[in-house]
Amino acid sequence: AKVGIIFGGKSAEHEVSLQSAKNIVDAIDKDKYDVVLLGIDKEGKWHLNDQSSYLLNEENPKLIQLNKTNKSIAVVPGESSKQLVSLSGSSGLDQLDVVFPIVHGTLGEDGSLQGMLRIANLPFVGTSVLGSAVSMDKDIAKRLLREAGIQVAEAVSYRKQAMSKIRFEEVKEKLGLPLFIKPANQGSSVGVSKVRTESEFYDGVKSAFQYDHKILVEEAVEGREIECSVLGNEEPIASLPGEILPQTDFYSYESKYIDEKGADLAIPADLSEDLTKKVQEASVKIFQTLDCEGMARVDFFLKKNGELVVNEVNTLPGFTRISMYPKLWEISGISYPELINKLIELAME
Ligand code: DAL
Ligand code: MG
Repeated sequence: AKVGIIFGGKSAEHEVSLQSAKNIVDAIDKDKYDVVLLGIDKEGKWHLNDQSSYLLNEENPKLIQLNKTNKSIAVVPGESSKQLVSLSGSSGLDQLDVVFPIVHGTLGEDGSLQGMLRIANLPFVGTSVLGSAVSMDKDIAKRLLREAGIQVAEAVSYRKQAMSKIRFEEVKEKLGLPLFIKPANQGSSVGVSKVRTESEFYDGVKSAFQYDHKILVEEAVEGREIECSVLGNEEPIASLPGEILPQTDFYSYESKYIDEKGADLAIPADLSEDLTKKVQEASVKIFQTLDCEGMARVDFFLKKNGELVVNEVNTLPGFTRISMYPKLWEISGISYPELINKLIELAME
């Protein structure tokens, strides 16, 4: 089958996506699949196959520097949509059997790309439009999870128009300290701050609004950071859980991808059988609550008293060298190439 791998993109996670794509391309079974590379550069331009492989081969010794040129969420169609029409008309999209989109964040993970692929009538790996959109928006995801009786980190959300009405004292009263400030729609901790003082708080608010028109101020949940991979459509299965052991104040973008000593991973997490089962059952329930398909990584806090609190759900989790999603499957008995095969098969179901 001809598999199109779409990667890169205009989001702040462009560089993360290049690393994910590189690993997927390396691991995919080349006897079984013809790989067609569809790279999207930071300006949103599409590059087909040979032209796009340069994106994967760019020298990047620091691995992944944050894509600082891309703070605003550009949703102007312009050039890219015109190009898309020509791509699909020529030797492009119409020849593919299935697509593996691995564009993290805005426009790639939020349902936009998924909508385009649906319109193009192409089967694709991962969650469709609705599940992608609601999982990406941390504010909406919390509402749905809460309604399903799943414990979430408490938060208040604000729109940019109401920025001047945000009061540190009020939020502190409600959610305590420290606080996390996050753009509602972002990944990889881009634009996220952990704050303790009034001045840090207002700086954090400003910085989060650079990435989204809506932000969340969230309570800091004390607990172990546990992650679990889910795979499947109608009958999803959960991997063994893993644990993040951050060596810095929190699991920031730098500690994820740049700082060598940023975080250790425990794969699998050192958990009792009961807790392992609890994490796995919760992960599947969350996956279904948010209408996920194919794959997702569910991130939790495990409190001292054994309570699980969902942090977030990632519908296009990272496949970088430090990423949990494929690693957790590996220790759960599904190798990297098998996993990719499985995801492609699920897409074509
Ligand atoms: N958003 C990044 C890619 C992750 O969740 O792994
Ligand atoms: Mg994320």
